[in-house]
Amino acid sequence: MPSARVLVLVACFWLLLVPVRCCGPGRGPVGRRRYMRKLVPLRYKQSVPNMSEKTLGASGRTEGKIRRDSDRFRELVLNYNPDIVFKDEENTNADRVMTERCKDRVNALAISVMNMWPGVRLRVTEGWDEDGHHSHDSLHYEGRALDITTSDRDKSKYGMLAALAVEAGFDWVYYESKAHIHVSVKADNSLAVRSGGCFPGTAMVNLAGGQRKSLSEVQLGDKILTTDETGQVATTEVFLFLHKDKDKLSTFVVIEAEGHPYRLWLTPNHLIFVRKNQLAGFLPVYAHHVQVGDFVRIYINGTQLTPSKVVNVSIQEETGVFAPLTVHGTLLVDGILTSCYATIEWHDLAHRSFAPMRFLYNMFSMLPEFVDSDGIHWYCHFLYVLAKKVLWLEMQ
Ligand SMILES: *[C@@H]1O[C@H](CO)[C@@H](O)[C@H](O)[C@H]1NC(C)=O
Ligand SMILES: *[C@@H]1O[C@H](CO)[C@@H](O)[C@H](O)[C@H]1NC(C)=O
Ligand SMILES: *[C@@H]1O[C@H](CO)[C@@H](O)[C@H](O)[C@H]1NC(C)=O
Repeated sequence: MPSARVLVLVACFWLLLVPVRCCGPGRGPVGRRRYMRKLVPLRYKQSVPNMSEKTLGASGRTEGKIRRDSDRFRELVLNYNPDIVFKDEENTNADRVMTERCKDRVNALAISVMNMWPGVRLRVTEGWDEDGHHSHDSLHYEGRALDITTSDRDKSKYGMLAALAVEAGFDWVYYESKAHIHVSVKADNSLAVRSGGCFPGTAMVNLAGGQRKSLSEVQLGDKILTTDETGQVATTEVFLFLHKDKDKLSTFVVIEAEGHPYRLWLTPNHLIFVRKNQLAGFLPVYAHHVQVGDFVRIYINGTQLTPSKVVNVSIQEETGVFAPLTVHGTLLVDGILTSCYATIEWHDLAHRSFAPMRFLYNMFSMLPEFVDSDGIHWYCHFLYVLAKKVLWLEMQ
């Protein structure tokens, strides 16, 4: 069907414009920020998230020192980003040695720093440490931690620098000393990172007929409940699985809402609709930004969703990751309204970027053939690779 191929190509070119990360590969680019949220500078000795560094909800446990002669040293990469000033006290380039995830995050931060303070660059004062200068279980020994400042060493900027680091996706940011900010990331090989995941297989969706079905049993073409633009309950069709792997272990944020019988499990970078205060509307935010006291939208049994207060948020591990994509781009999971998308805090953009897919689906109903064997949809993978390229070009 040559016309189908042409359409796929056209769609792909169009997609070049839209970097999106799916829940497949756990690390990836954080593109140039397309909007500025109101950033709150961190206070001295404050950390985000507010927990200790080596816990599951932050950068995770240590995996042991990496030395130059370790096998794991080969997994580390060098960062020659010209927009970052490396102090390199040791004169060995050790500060440039880091994990892939750390490199992705610090490169994204370098862009934010230049956008925030024209003429100022990000400065790394300490990276990988092979000389044993830190406490015995420091993440500096694994290339997962950096100490950073701005190139002008203006201490009044450090609180905001820390806030930018949180935005850039570091897993733990700490205003450690008046002289620097400490940032760190999860290990590249930690299962939680590799399988960005989405929902566990045990999560339930509501079928149009009134029954509930677990995500592990949902089939392409199933009609499930979501809402339309007006907030009314509507049915929508599952037309793709962006990710489907019943054996993958992943970390989930578990959200409990007041008066709601079900707990929602979703991966930290998945989007959910949340109202942060009475005056705002419901907006898509990362699951790991949801806090007790926020409101989510729940479905009980009727035609409309009701706001309900979040009463508990916890972090837990579970096996199996499933990411269904619906025609509406939203769905009810365990009775709570969520987005189908992960990792880009811009649900609308992600939804638009899938428009060609929906178009093709409607035209040819042939999408299931595209799902590749390793469980990550080729389209996601394609966008992921592409977005990395785009970011890389921006860095040159
Ligand atoms: C961080 O957690 C501690 C203990 O749970 C609490 O006392 C403190 O107020 C929290 N800080 C912030 C900024 O939320
Ligand atoms: C919804 O309400 C109807 C009648 O009020 C009831 O028969 C039905 O079992 C309810 N469904 C669920 C899923 O609670
Ligand atoms: C929140 O949920 C976790 C996990 O189920 C539980 O350990 C904790 O006690 C709960 N906290 C509250 C305040 O209910």
